[in-house]
Amino acid sequence: EKGGYEHFMLKEIHEQPEAIRDTYRGRLLANEGIIRMAGIDDNIEKFTQADKITIVACGTSWHAGLVAEYIFEDLARIPVEVEYASEFRYRNPVITNKDVVIAISQSGETADTLAAIKLAKQNGAFVFGVCNVVGSSIARETHAGAYTHAGPEIGVASTKAFTTQITVLTLIALKLAKVKGNMSNSDFHHHLQELELIPEKIEKALKADAHIQIVAKQYKDAKNSLYLGRGYNFPVALEGALKLKEISYIHAEGYPAAEMKHGPIALIDEQMPVYVIAVNNPHYGKVVSNIEEIKSRSGKIIGIVTEGDEEVKELADHVIEVPNTLESLTPLLTTIPLQLLSYHIAVMLDRNVDQPRNLAKSVTVE
Ligand code: M6R
Repeated sequence: EKGGYEHFMLKEIHEQPEAIRDTYRGRLLANEGIIRMAGIDDNIEKFTQADKITIVACGTSWHAGLVAEYIFEDLARIPVEVEYASEFRYRNPVITNKDVVIAISQSGETADTLAAIKLAKQNGAFVFGVCNVVGSSIARETHAGAYTHAGPEIGVASTKAFTTQITVLTLIALKLAKVKGNMSNSDFHHHLQELELIPEKIEKALKADAHIQIVAKQYKDAKNSLYLGRGYNFPVALEGALKLKEISYIHAEGYPAAEMKHGPIALIDEQMPVYVIAVNNPHYGKVVSNIEEIKSRSGKIIGIVTEGDEEVKELADHVIEVPNTLESLTPLLTTIPLQLLSYHIAVMLDRNVDQPRNLAKSVTVE
C-alpha cells in the first residue's frame, strides 16, 4: 500500500508530479490556450464582479490560500483576504452578497472551515470549495467547487494536497486574469506552458534527495529553526516550518525575510539553521541582503536556490537547487526540498512520521 516507500508521507511527496498532472488534466489546455473548469465557467460573473475574495482554511490549506492571495492579486487584480477559518467564524466579518468566499480543505471535514462556510452563506456570499476528498462535507456545503484530484492523502503531514491546491488556485487565477483582460494572450500562453512543465520540474527537484539527506543529518539536532522567504515564497516559509514542527517536533518559525530585523534576528547564533528561499525573482537581491545579515551573526544558512545560482552559493553553508520557472509558480518547486528535509529529519529522529503525536488527519472538532 505504500508502493515500496517506507512511509506514506514519502510516497505522497513523490506522487506530486503525477498528482499535479491529475489536477490539471482536462482543465489546462496549454496548446489551445484554454483553461476549462466547470465550477468557474458556470459562475464566472460571481468572480469577475466580486468586491473581494475571502479565502478561509486551516493549517497547510491556509498556507495554500496565502500563495493564492499573491497570485490572484498579481495576475487577476482581485483583492484577496486570507483568514484562519477559526478566527473568521467568530469575528463578525464584513461579508455580503458581493463577496466570493473560497474554502480550501484537503479532507473537506475540518470543523472550523465548515462553520466559516455556513457563516459566509448566511451573509449571502457565493462560496466555492477547493477540496480533495470527493463528496466530503465541505464539497457538499459549498455552492460550487473544484476538486484537487490528488488521490488519497494518508500521511498526517499534508504534502501533495498543498501543491495540488496551489495548482487549482493558479488555474482559477489565470482564468480570471484572462477573462478580465488583465493578461495579454502571449503572457497567458506562457503561463499555461510553464504550468504544464511543473510536474517534470518537480521530478527534477526530487532528485536532490541524497543531498537533502546530508543537510538533514547536519541540522537534525538543532532545537530551533527559522524559515524565511519573500513574496510568493513567504507562505512557503510558513509551510516549511509547519512541516518540521509537526513531524520532527523541532520548534520552527516561518517569517517574511524582511521581518527578521523586527525581532527574530535576536535569535540568531551559530546554533540556528536558517532555511532561506532565495530563488531567481525580483526580490532576489533583497533576499541576498537578508542572508548577509544572518551570516554576519553566524547563523547557518541553507539556501533554496534556482539551478545555476552563484551568489547565494558563495554565502550559504548549503544550497539546494530547484529548476527555474515563472515567479508565480515557484512555490510549487521550493516546497519540495522543504518537505523532504522535514521528512528526513523526522526519520533520523525516529519520529512517527505518518502519525505524529497529538495530531489527527482531519480536525472535525473545533
Ligand atoms: O483537511 P484540511 O485541509 O481542512 O486540514 C487543514 C489542516 O488541519 C491541515 O492542513 C494540517 O495543518 C496538516 N496536518 C498540515 O500538514
